[in-house]
Amino acid sequence: MTRRIFIAGNWKMNLTLSASLELAEGLKQKTANVTAADVAVCPPSVYLQPVAAALRNSNIKVGAQNVYFEKNGAFTGEISAEMLKDIGVTYVILGHSERRNILGESSETVNRKTHAALAAGLIPIVCVGELLKEREAGVTEEVVRRQFDGSFSGISAEDMTKCVIAYEPVWAIGTGKVATPEQAEEVHAAIRKMIAAKYGKDAAEAVRIQYGGSVNDKNAEEILAKPNVDGALVGGASLKVDSFLGIINGAK
Ligand code: 13P
Repeated sequence: MTRRIFIAGNWKMNLTLSASLELAEGLKQKTANVTAADVAVCPPSVYLQPVAAALRNSNIKVGAQNVYFEKNGAFTGEISAEMLKDIGVTYVILGHSERRNILGESSETVNRKTHAALAAGLIPIVCVGELLKEREAGVTEEVVRRQFDGSFSGISAEDMTKCVIAYEPVWAIGTGKVATPEQAEEVHAAIRKMIAAKYGKDAAEAVRIQYGGSVNDKNAEEILAKPNVDGALVGGASLKVDSFLGIINGAK
């Protein structure tokens, strides 16, 4: 099975409405002939709908950066998976390290969100990754395994194949300190083994594993060339048309 490269831009809490629309329009035009990769952008929730409207009839899908796991009700400030689906959202980033580490999100919460997203027909992009001190202590695989097991608890093999996993070493996020292609490949291969052990070989071959952490238009091609790296989840470099396009063009 060949997995299609998937490049997603995580805009995090950046841009204004007009800057979001300008970026979306620029990307829409310049990706009109892109065939080598699936592309998505994940704007802040308030800009999801206008960006989704701007990207209608384009090669770019829209993703949210978070979701709540309940269907509806008295949950002030939260947004449900059905609501995201309703406004044309395709993907949702779950368990990003900024949510795990700054907002205290646990793998148990990520798991509930993964179930809710799948039930609503959204594609979860579930993030895993170790802190610098965990890498230095040699427990990277153990940490990632714990996040993987927790985040996907109770998910069927069929649903697993719909999910995307993003390996984002926390020490590489926003630091300019990108993992080497070999470091990324090593963890990606380990994650694929975890999928195979739990869901079987077919599921493991189908699931796309993105790398995230200081990906830019200079280093993307080399990382994307690794056999178990199936795409990138891009922060800073996804905020400008040319740098994001450069990463997309790194997909061969
Ligand atoms: P940077 O690309 O800015 O390092 O961010 C990576 C990331 O967290 C994407 O989700």
